[in-house]
Amino acid sequence: MILLDGKKTSLDIKQEIAVEVKSRKEKGLKIPHLAAIIVGSDGASMTYVNSKVKSCQQIGFNSTLIELPEETTEEQLLHEIDALNKDKDIDGFIVQLPLPKQIDEQKVLMAVDPDKDVDGFHPVNVGKMTLDLPAFLPATPAGIMELLERYDIETSGKNVVVIGRSHIVGRPMSILLSQKRKVGNATVTLTHSRTKDLASITREADIVVAALGMAEFLTGDMVKEGVTIIDVGITRVPDATKKRGYRLAGDVHFESVSEKASYITPVPGGVGPMTIAMLLTNTLQACQNKD
Ligand code: GUN
Repeated sequence: MILLDGKKTSLDIKQEIAVEVKSRKEKGLKIPHLAAIIVGSDGASMTYVNSKVKSCQQIGFNSTLIELPEETTEEQLLHEIDALNKDKDIDGFIVQLPLPKQIDEQKVLMAVDPDKDVDGFHPVNVGKMTLDLPAFLPATPAGIMELLERYDIETSGKNVVVIGRSHIVGRPMSILLSQKRKVGNATVTLTHSRTKDLASITREADIVVAALGMAEFLTGDMVKEGVTIIDVGITRVPDATKKRGYRLAGDVHFESVSEKASYITPVPGGVGPMTIAMLLTNTLQACQNKD
């Protein structure tokens, strides 16, 4: 069994970007600038956003963090987005999800300038991605593609089973892996909460992407020998033996599944760091698009 080390791979990618930023500096070109908006103070979301900002600093990007209170109105948030759309120094920005219930997520995502939409969530980018045109790819699926590519995992003609149909991970993952591209050409089955006899489907999979958000859902009896496992889940499970009171669990029961898998992503240190690396890649691209 080989661990797909997202932590190391993301460090490699960050190093590659840092070299590019240095070279841009030397040539007098613009330094990439990423902004992030966070509404409210959800613990997990704050951890993710802080990690994105910290990564910007590590590789020489400029970054701006806009923290808004939980009670922010939709209008106020749209106003902030408008300002970032108009700000010539900002190359790309993200609005961290989920948003408080008084705010319509779709309306917010539609307000982001598609040229600055480094999360790849705007319908223009989703449409371009679906048609295999140049677009900002959503960071988590892009990170998974990059991990499969860098570990030379064959996808062409393979049976891929994606569990979960979210707009952020499952659905785009199923689209990308079925496309005619370097990491692609797979026969993809997109499964979800209404799928009947899921285990009979996952047992046929050469690659499983688990992105349903239920801790340790995929167990060893649900997969075949030699499978490649991509675990997108990251759930806080109460654990009194830990100082912080919880542990992080993936959607995969690592102990039983890793006994059968040839490749598997750990949680943490698998898909998570790759997501950040691809957000930075998209931001560099957004900046280069303006050269
Ligand atoms: N919430 C969970 N994943 C993501 C992501 O990739 N981008 C944003 N903006 N919010 C998220």
